[in-house]
Amino acid sequence: MKERLVIFDTTLRDGEQSPGASMTRDEKLRVARQLERMRVDVIEAGFAAASPGDFAAIRGIAEVIKDSTVCSLARANENDIRRAGEAIQPAPRKRIHTFIATSPIHMEKKLRMSPDEVVEAAVRAIRFAREYTDDVEFSAEDAGRSEIDFLCRVFEAVIKAGATTLNVPDTVGYMIPALWGERMRTLIERVPGADKVIWSTHCHNDLGMAVANSLAAVMAGARQVECTINGLGERAGNAALEEVVMAVKTRPDVFTVDTRIDTTQIVPASKLVSQITGYPVQPNKAIVGANAFAHESGIHQDGVLKHRETYEIMRAQDVGWAQNKLVLGKLSGRNAFKTRLAELGIELAGDEALNAAFARFKELADKKTEIFDEDLQALVSDEGVTAENEHYKLVYSHVCSETGETPLAQITLTVDGVERKAQSTGSGPVDATFRAIEQVAGSGAQLLLYSVNAITTGTDAQGEVTVRLAKDGRIVNGAGADTDIVIASAKSYLNALNKLRSSLERVNPQGV
Ligand code: KIV
Ligand code: ZN
Repeated sequence: MKERLVIFDTTLRDGEQSPGASMTRDEKLRVARQLERMRVDVIEAGFAAASPGDFAAIRGIAEVIKDSTVCSLARANENDIRRAGEAIQPAPRKRIHTFIATSPIHMEKKLRMSPDEVVEAAVRAIRFAREYTDDVEFSAEDAGRSEIDFLCRVFEAVIKAGATTLNVPDTVGYMIPALWGERMRTLIERVPGADKVIWSTHCHNDLGMAVANSLAAVMAGARQVECTINGLGERAGNAALEEVVMAVKTRPDVFTVDTRIDTTQIVPASKLVSQITGYPVQPNKAIVGANAFAHESGIHQDGVLKHRETYEIMRAQDVGWAQNKLVLGKLSGRNAFKTRLAELGIELAGDEALNAAFARFKELADKKTEIFDEDLQALVSDEGVTAENEHYKLVYSHVCSETGETPLAQITLTVDGVERKAQSTGSGPVDATFRAIEQVAGSGAQLLLYSVNAITTGTDAQGEVTVRLAKDGRIVNGAGADTDIVIASAKSYLNALNKLRSSLERVNPQGV
């Protein structure tokens, strides 16, 4: 029997700290459900003290997630820990993750605390957190640049105070695998009580070594890896969950540990996170990139056709890549639609949401004869859009775009149910449409990102558009899909505007 490697996913906390990747409460809930479906052990759902929106999202996740442990981050102070404890309270399995910096530079320049004060604050934080749950994790922020003797002292003290998981973060992504493995081994050997806790690693990717460092720590005795879907995270990101999990699974000869992850849920999770955050996945990204299993050269194709393992070390279907399969068409009924969604692991919240999604499916089937799984996934991504949060709604759009002429867009929107019309010229049809919308909305928001992706192949494919808007220090992503990319663009712009109006959105994930 192999030992369990605990997979701690922090897409909803550290991942959300990627610039512009902040998610709404509904979006976080959808990601959390997918993480649970993938059998992630611990979901770090956010940082409860960061904002009322964060608190509400964690609380909402704690109310529905049953199988995974739900965790909130908290600085080592009473207010943060109280908020974390209250947010995770409904979860059957709950964890508080409290942290304080231990490197000389952080203690002196950022915290302005002496090493003795840091140990004292850490111990107090653990004791207080234990009043809310028995599952308490402690992180020594910037452990990579901390003095090893001091790290041993802090870790020994927090074990005595009741910490059950000790996390060793390479906060600034400064480590290299051999040194990181050695550091983990030294800590486990030297800290009294080390055998009573789970040692964890949390690596950032500034030098492109987050996954390699995490795996080196596992080989040295770490039994929890903190990671994110698609390697999302602060600056260059965190260790990518899919790479850590598949390395362990693909090399059982090297690793003495195993995870309980359902790897067939990896690609759906990657697509969901990419679509919600507006962070595209590079085509050559390991495991989840569009080309990860594509063989281009004739020699490779010939080899794979003769014997798959000549050039493939993993099977595409084991990580959730499905062939573009025709699944439904114009004549498919509500039951077939519902059944296929269930097969894809998509649960809609109640009959109303199902009926609305089915109506959108029928509209799409009128325009596009072949409907693939990817189309269905895009279609239900509007699931969180309800009448209450749809302040602006697209009714009509018309664009004229002609060689040598300035494009013109005419739009009709409803604003809280009242029809408004506008028209504008622009440098292209999308620019003209956005200008026309702005004439009605007058948001003054700054457009930070506009990106279009084809969901499936073929010229009749749906275009999926992401728009990122900033206003008054808040950044939101809007998404929209349609076979007409100008309409998809209008939908995504309006989706972003609707989010900007939502009071539950956080101001800035790092603004605490
Ligand atoms: O990178 C880091 O140090 C963190 C801690 C809060 C664990 O994200
Ligand atoms: Zn981090």
